[in-house]
Amino acid sequence: MQRKIKIMYISSVIAPFVKISGLPDVARALPKAIKNMNHDIRLFTPKYTAINERKYTLREVIRLKDIDVTFGNKKMKANVKSAFLPDSKVQVYFIEKEGYFNNIENPANPPIQEGSVDQAEQVVFFNRSLFEVLKILHWQPDIIHCNDWQTALIPLFLKTLFKDDSFFNKTKTLFTIHNWADQGVFEKELLPLIDNSETMFYPDGPIEFQAKINFLKTGIVFSDIINTVSKSYAKEAQRSNELSYGLRPILRKRANDFYGIVNGIDYTVWNPETDSLIFHQFTSKDLSGKIANKKNLVESQGLKFDENKPVIGTNVRLADQKGLDIIIGALDKLMKLDLQYIIYGTGDEKYRQIFQTAIKKYPGKLRLILKHDDQLIHQFAAGCDLFLIPSRIEPSGLDQLYSLRYGTIPIVYATGGLSDNVKNYDPLTKRGYGFVFSEYSPEALAATTKGAIELYHDKNIWNKLIERAMKLDFSWDSSAEKYVKLYNTLVT
Ligand code: GLC
Repeated sequence: MQRKIKIMYISSVIAPFVKISGLPDVARALPKAIKNMNHDIRLFTPKYTAINERKYTLREVIRLKDIDVTFGNKKMKANVKSAFLPDSKVQVYFIEKEGYFNNIENPANPPIQEGSVDQAEQVVFFNRSLFEVLKILHWQPDIIHCNDWQTALIPLFLKTLFKDDSFFNKTKTLFTIHNWADQGVFEKELLPLIDNSETMFYPDGPIEFQAKINFLKTGIVFSDIINTVSKSYAKEAQRSNELSYGLRPILRKRANDFYGIVNGIDYTVWNPETDSLIFHQFTSKDLSGKIANKKNLVESQGLKFDENKPVIGTNVRLADQKGLDIIIGALDKLMKLDLQYIIYGTGDEKYRQIFQTAIKKYPGKLRLILKHDDQLIHQFAAGCDLFLIPSRIEPSGLDQLYSLRYGTIPIVYATGGLSDNVKNYDPLTKRGYGFVFSEYSPEALAATTKGAIELYHDKNIWNKLIERAMKLDFSWDSSAEKYVKLYNTLVT
């Protein structure tokens, strides 16, 4: 029998408490899958003031009150609240401190922002407090599983401040990197807040990168093992400076301890047969509900509904690496096709303006939705015919999985998790369930979309494509097993 592993899973954002897609979704679904494999996994996250305590039944933990946390020359107190992930037995511990974690004004923005010392102090506090919490809990995890730069000081503290502390002498770390663009980069003025760090800050030193403190690098250097969220991206990041946002040389040094495990999705949340966030539930055998969803979606955007006109969606942060340059480059060509196109996302002002202008040029065909709303993401997955995801860099990506589950066929650029997940439709063998282009250009994007739309009008083939897509299994089970295998390489 497999040994029960104790895993402390730490994420700065966890759905449904905080919902900005990507990491929070993973931080909800993966621990659930690991718990189902009978391991003792517990979640730790900041208690943002915006988290609704009543709705999620957060309770105070009496013995975890007024915990002393000291770092630099600061002496602070932490409180801990606890709740369960909805519909599960996974316990979540929320670290609370008065005056901290109160900056979620727009949930689409990462709650802990980069760059300012105030924010950095909150991250240091959060990371440092967890060691005290564990001690009072008397819970000695075998594995501390950290995610992204907001948790990256934990492996450092474990290997420096707590190196000789017998409480942690069996504890190992896994660091998962989802977002490579945000690295937690700070000026060296921050050093006094990170105990014992002065000696590690020098050119090419363990916490230094390009003359700044770099949290992501620190996590890579001090963790026992590291992974990212797809096999393809793990290769790309080691191959290219651009794709790794400059961290390639650091990664290469850890090549033997660096893995790729692709994300899954939680089918209890993403299921068109039961999803209460969509207008009409449906199955692969009866797609009438999908068509009704399309009508709702299109009309809610002020477009005219036509059952036979393909609706393409893109749900994207309006940022460079998400492929907006080639969408914009291809827009005139796309707009010549008989389709409707709805882009959904928030982000860079420059992109907003470009799309606002384009909408005026193509009023009956193009729409831009500038807000972040969980329900709309579900309605989008259900109501579109095709989903265009042309990211230049995509460590994993979840939209392709959500859309496949709802019979919405993805058009993707062959990168990272998109290559791992989407198989190109081959007209000869009739295999595959998506459209993949491997040259990053507006021309390739437009040509692939044109081909997809031609096929869309062949209802025989198209319905088979939908059926195949909806039957695919991208549940977390197989990826959760891979994580447990990684844990097992560390536990003794
Ligand atoms: C980041 C990545 C994305 C991934 C998500 C969850 O947002 O950019 O590709 O799906 O994290 O792992």
